[in-house]
Amino acid sequence: MAQNAPKTVYLADYQAPDYVVEKTALNFILDPKRTIVRSNLSVKRANNTEAGTALVLNGEALELLSVKIDGVIVSKDAMTLGETTLTIKNVPDDFKLEIETACSPQANTALSGLYLSNEMFCTQCEAQGFRRITYFPDRPDVLSIFSVRIEADKGAYPVLLANGNLTNQGDLDDGRHFTEWHDPHPKPSYLFALVGGDLACVQDQFTTCSGRDVALKIFVQPENKDKCAYTLDALKRSMRWDEETFGREYDLDIFMIVAVDHFNFGAMENKGLNIFNSAYVLASPETATDMDYETIESIVAHEYFHNWSGNRVTCRDWFQLCLKEGFTVFRDQEFSADMRSRPVQRIKDVRRLWAHQFPEDRGPLAHPPRPDQYMTIDNFYTATVYEKGAELARMLKSLLGPEKFRAASDLYFDRHDGTAATVEDFIAAMEDASGKDLKQFRRWYSDAGAPNLTVTPIESDKQGEARFKLHQKTAPTPGQKEKPPRHIPVAYAAYDPETGAQLDHGLFEMREEEQTLTVKGDAPVLSLLGGFSAPVTLSHNQSLEQKLLLIAHDQDPFNRWAAVNGLWQDLCLGLAGAIDLPAPDTALEKFCTALGDALKDAQNDPAFAAELLKAPTPAELAQEAAIIDPAAIVKARKHVRGTVAQALKEPLRTLYDSLRSNAPYAPEAAQAAPRALKNAALGLLTITGEAALADSQASSAANMTDEAAAVAALAGLDHSLRTTALERFYQKWRTNTLVVNKWLAWRALTPAADALQDVKTLTKHEAYDAGVPNKVRALIGVFARENIEAFHALDGGGYDFFVEQILAIDPKNPQLSARLVGVLESWRKLEPTRRALAQDALKRIAGHKGLSTNLYEMAERLL
Ligand code: TRP
Ligand code: ZN
Repeated sequence: MAQNAPKTVYLADYQAPDYVVEKTALNFILDPKRTIVRSNLSVKRANNTEAGTALVLNGEALELLSVKIDGVIVSKDAMTLGETTLTIKNVPDDFKLEIETACSPQANTALSGLYLSNEMFCTQCEAQGFRRITYFPDRPDVLSIFSVRIEADKGAYPVLLANGNLTNQGDLDDGRHFTEWHDPHPKPSYLFALVGGDLACVQDQFTTCSGRDVALKIFVQPENKDKCAYTLDALKRSMRWDEETFGREYDLDIFMIVAVDHFNFGAMENKGLNIFNSAYVLASPETATDMDYETIESIVAHEYFHNWSGNRVTCRDWFQLCLKEGFTVFRDQEFSADMRSRPVQRIKDVRRLWAHQFPEDRGPLAHPPRPDQYMTIDNFYTATVYEKGAELARMLKSLLGPEKFRAASDLYFDRHDGTAATVEDFIAAMEDASGKDLKQFRRWYSDAGAPNLTVTPIESDKQGEARFKLHQKTAPTPGQKEKPPRHIPVAYAAYDPETGAQLDHGLFEMREEEQTLTVKGDAPVLSLLGGFSAPVTLSHNQSLEQKLLLIAHDQDPFNRWAAVNGLWQDLCLGLAGAIDLPAPDTALEKFCTALGDALKDAQNDPAFAAELLKAPTPAELAQEAAIIDPAAIVKARKHVRGTVAQALKEPLRTLYDSLRSNAPYAPEAAQAAPRALKNAALGLLTITGEAALADSQASSAANMTDEAAAVAALAGLDHSLRTTALERFYQKWRTNTLVVNKWLAWRALTPAADALQDVKTLTKHEAYDAGVPNKVRALIGVFARENIEAFHALDGGGYDFFVEQILAIDPKNPQLSARLVGVLESWRKLEPTRRALAQDALKRIAGHKGLSTNLYEMAERLL
């Protein structure tokens, strides 16, 4: 049993709060070593609570100074102070509760609660950080109206921010000053935020659809003032899009974003005061890639969209997390699709789902999008909650159709505005607005695992018609043996096997375990799950010829890409001995020809063509193998890529040359798309002996997209130019911490033999800092996740290093150590030697004394 005996929390045990907090007034006296927090709460007994019920507040790592009820000090024996709670016996029905506490931002390395990042005060309260700031009913169904007063030294902390609108500010004695903020919208404590620091502000303005003016402000360290323009632009586009697409208008006079370097996640949607990992705010053409711009755009949108899906309508309890996250990811994906290429956006989203969520659903960490138990909710900010949650919203949209889906969304927001809702409420709104029965669809939320859909042709003698048997089965997952059939929207199309003409298409709603799909055509080639209409896996035995026909003719761009990707994968896994592949050489040859043909109209949609050229990564391939032999996978992939590159060398070179441009850099899709294709071509050319081409692009590039693509192409190569290019890059960028993180990630990808030593050395390098999560993820995370050959070395050295790093991080930042250990989620699929070593590594972690609850829970589930 773990040291601090972590308790499991169950959805079934949910009980409404005993007391409500109508108003919360907070007073901060900021000091790095010892910050004083005075809170003044208007507390009322809830209707169903028995009079005299004790009031239980959450609190952690706090020093309690005093407690008063209606101005009278509460004596020691009228309360119980536990490790993580403060219980006050015999409270009145309606009273003022004043609590004074102290905390130490400086000592807070967990980056949860109130902490310092480069001397700046900042907060992170989701999910349970507010209890590290003051004693409070720290749960999302206690909504309160907050006012905040912040006092600090004016020289060191000229900027003092909190949620809502600024209501007062002024100077005090001794060079101190204060600000006061009021947020009129009731909110749970996890949306509270405060910032204090010496920050520069970049401003703009937005007029909402009803004509209200909103001030937009981005706060960054002064030297980064010139890197906020794109973020502001993305924010304005997000605000307009949410009005036009979901009818959602912004609701305060001011919207602020603050960039911080020390952050456990991407960003946080605190009401009116979003706090961002600086990696997702700062961008200039010289320092950020097209991909970085794209990510910034989507995260800005994501956090902004939370203002409705998450803030105005919040979650009743943390089991409902996908209610806000899944829906909001869906909304940001749709935004990005409208801003850029819809098909390419879909390809990227599904690729991410496959790489992160599918492995989760297949392994020991499998859980439903709405889990029914947890020890630490921090461990459930997962690909299943976020990405699969988004797929569920997307399926609802395709089942309802766009108009009814929009009506249902309006109904949901309208019905639950200002309250804390459940997944059940969301689906009920979908049903009520559409009249559609979603009883069976609810299983997607409560059941873990991806259904596997098996497709088999049924003999048919009826002319012009073909029949297929569809069979769905979901494998058992931890704690869930029985998996009843799901309601699956299966998009289908049928193609003429000779001409490739489309003969039929539609959406088939599967509800039973086994059903027959009838389509028009004589022995047509079937294309299933167009646009990836449902998050299921497909067992569909198609011949190489059928797959090639789809590559050439499928009218659904996602499925055309999926056919290409499927062949990349079959070839690599076939050569690695992980799957059966008849006549691999012929298949590879035909694949090269098909890819070459597909590239012929590449100029029409360069972003799409770029996706076709990207072979699955070694990590992606490993996830698709039944038994993982990392070294064999890396070797096979190298061979397949090498053969493709050699076969297409000429057209790739022509593409590369034709796509070079001297136009001044702009991040928009119109420029980013041809750049993506050019750099995908470069990646392949580099392995055909053209390393000098990459080297020359790296040294002459006028923007980070071209520079990074070239260095990345070299970084995966066993070549002398690799070392010099990386060294040159580091010397050029050593003072820019975000750019240096790219370099750390490339170094983590050092080809096999030397990688572990290289990474170990880097942990002592000036570029590295174990206290900055971005750096840990770039070096240790990328090494363990992507450099599969070195990390899974047969002598177990990679695992030993990993254990050591995790155990060193855990006491300082448990959210980070727990997330990192998840890299081992597929350990059971490793070939036997490595499996034993990985298991041993996990056991060493689980058996370590003094583990955080976060890491303890993960290690236990993994084992
Ligand atoms: N709610 C945030 C989002 O989805 C992410 C988040 C959850 C987070 N927990 C966090 C951010 C902890 C930082 C730290 O955008
Ligand atoms: Zn979110």
